[in-house]
Amino acid sequence: MEFIKKQEWRYATKKFDPHQKVSEENLEIIKRAVQLSTSSYGLQLYKVLIIEDPKTREKLLPASWNQSQIVDASHLFVFCNYAEVKPHHIDKYIDLTAKTRQLNVEDLKGYGDFMKLKIGEQSNETQASWTKHQTYLALGNLLAVCADLQIDACPMEGFDVEKYNEILGLTEKGLNASLVAPIGYRSPDDNTQNLPKVRKPLELLFESI
Ligand SMILES: Cc1cc2nc3c(=O)[nH]c(=O)nc-3n(C[C@H](O)[C@H](O)[C@H](O)COP(=O)(O)O)c2cc1C
Repeated sequence: MEFIKKQEWRYATKKFDPHQKVSEENLEIIKRAVQLSTSSYGLQLYKVLIIEDPKTREKLLPASWNQSQIVDASHLFVFCNYAEVKPHHIDKYIDLTAKTRQLNVEDLKGYGDFMKLKIGEQSNETQASWTKHQTYLALGNLLAVCADLQIDACPMEGFDVEKYNEILGLTEKGLNASLVAPIGYRSPDDNTQNLPKVRKPLELLFESI
């Protein structure tokens, strides 16, 4: 199966070829795949920065355990979750739904109120953790579409969140850096690409009931 072959081809790239760039056309496909990611209630409570600027990436390097992918990859995606869920996030989603599906905002008020109630019951910490979880789904789509396009990527949690928030001015926007994903093309010198995948056997991973 083509999907499986592409998943076997992909790996968390440790060394990118700094001379190869992802085309604008492929970048648009990747953005669309991230946009189509599923999220709780469909709220998409995050923003995604796409960083090409070398100076910004040089600043992020020491805040990323000096992992060279930060500066060598073609583009750096930084997934940022909203640290708190505000009523206006829900209102905007309701407005967008009404506009997209040609409905009356008033008819969706009950649903909006329900979301506000349920999400409002959560502590700030739980909200931050919940919105952060959503970014992992978007990251999953990014990795899958990149593999489909034969573009390399590396999912990354190895960075200092506070420093990212500071360097990228995220806190004042209510955002928090949750995940990083450099994308581009593997260097032939990256020996990791030749290593067999380490995965639990299916019989340990799954249990049929
Ligand atoms: C959420 C997450 C965070 C990760 N953080 C890093 C990281 O900071 N640096 C890195 O080189 N790899 C990182 N990895 C890559 C994993 O180590 C790698 O995906 C795993 O060993 C499986 O290997 P594969 O993706 O090459 O098949 C991360 C993976 C995930 C899913």
